[in-house]
Amino acid sequence: MIDTADLQRLRDSLADDLARVTSDRDLQHVRDRYLGRRTGLLAGVWSRIAKAPAAERPALGRLANELKQQVEAALDARRASLPRGAAVERLDVTLPGRVPAIGHRHPLTVLRDRIEAIFGRMGFEIVDGPETEDDDHNFEALNMPADHPSRDMQDTLYLKTPLPRPVMAIGHRGAPRKAGEGAPATLLRTHTSNMQIRYMREHEPPLRIIAPGRVYRRDNLDLTHTPMFQQVEGVVVGEGITLADLKGTLTAFLRELFDPGTPVTFRPSYFPYTEPSAEAYIGCPFCNQAGCAVCKRTGWLEILGSGMVHPAVFEAVGYDPERYTGFAWGMGIERVAMLKYRVDDIRVFYENDLRLLEQFPP
Ligand code: DAH
Repeated sequence: MIDTADLQRLRDSLADDLARVTSDRDLQHVRDRYLGRRTGLLAGVWSRIAKAPAAERPALGRLANELKQQVEAALDARRASLPRGAAVERLDVTLPGRVPAIGHRHPLTVLRDRIEAIFGRMGFEIVDGPETEDDDHNFEALNMPADHPSRDMQDTLYLKTPLPRPVMAIGHRGAPRKAGEGAPATLLRTHTSNMQIRYMREHEPPLRIIAPGRVYRRDNLDLTHTPMFQQVEGVVVGEGITLADLKGTLTAFLRELFDPGTPVTFRPSYFPYTEPSAEAYIGCPFCNQAGCAVCKRTGWLEILGSGMVHPAVFEAVGYDPERYTGFAWGMGIERVAMLKYRVDDIRVFYENDLRLLEQFPP
């Protein structure tokens, strides 16, 4: 219900509001307040008129129409009377500043940075390389010749036509990448192990590097697979490097990444580019090794693949396998993130849902 007195009150409050207007912005607020299409005060008047007794409706409607015209006229008049362009807005320097929402980094980026920081403190260099790759760097030089059964371990995404440009050579973080020689890229790298070959071919031992980056596999999306994910590769080469160095380095890393008290163990495994090969496991943090669904009742979670660099790999990069030894490893970043943050669906990392992303520590 509404009556003429209500309309008069609206007119009075408009006059008050207009008297306080000092800037175009204020004026816009007043305009919205009265004439806003859905929430404006006049919009409300129309719906209330509809509920008035039928006999009164035409008169009220006329009044409301007049009111609308008066409001528009009053707003226009006020606009005309505002000093042109003068930023009459007053600045109260004593008010607390507005803190703009600036967002934060993606949880996987945060995690990758942490991993880089840990290895950085251990004296590792962080290197970067191409995601499009040739067969040699991704397979052949890693002791996986064309008919090697271990190629089936990873389903490769091949490029329809080899990329015409030369494959990019390795670049160091911050430094521009330079174009390198090498066969044209024919595939998307299935792992970051290609960086072992790229780096070793351009540097002499001793060396210790990590190479984080994206890798691609012909996997369908499910709880634990995405066709693109990220890995961190690592390799250390020198004289007299042993399996004890591998265990010591990776144990120290995992304890810093997860928790200083984390149990770590190594079990024999197989990779063509290492001999011997080992998988590192951490004690399941969810059940304190009592056995739960996450660790499939084993108390342990596999966290990375590693091993002593195979002599055939040294030969492929021109190192003397009699003189040098080394170890290498590869680890999935999403997998670590899932374990660290108790996420049970890998896809959420790539869906960009802020409700989820904002829950991670910056
Ligand atoms: N390339 C392996 C993968 O993608 C991970 C890996 C295992 C890397 C052993 C290594 C290694 O450097 O020594 O699953």
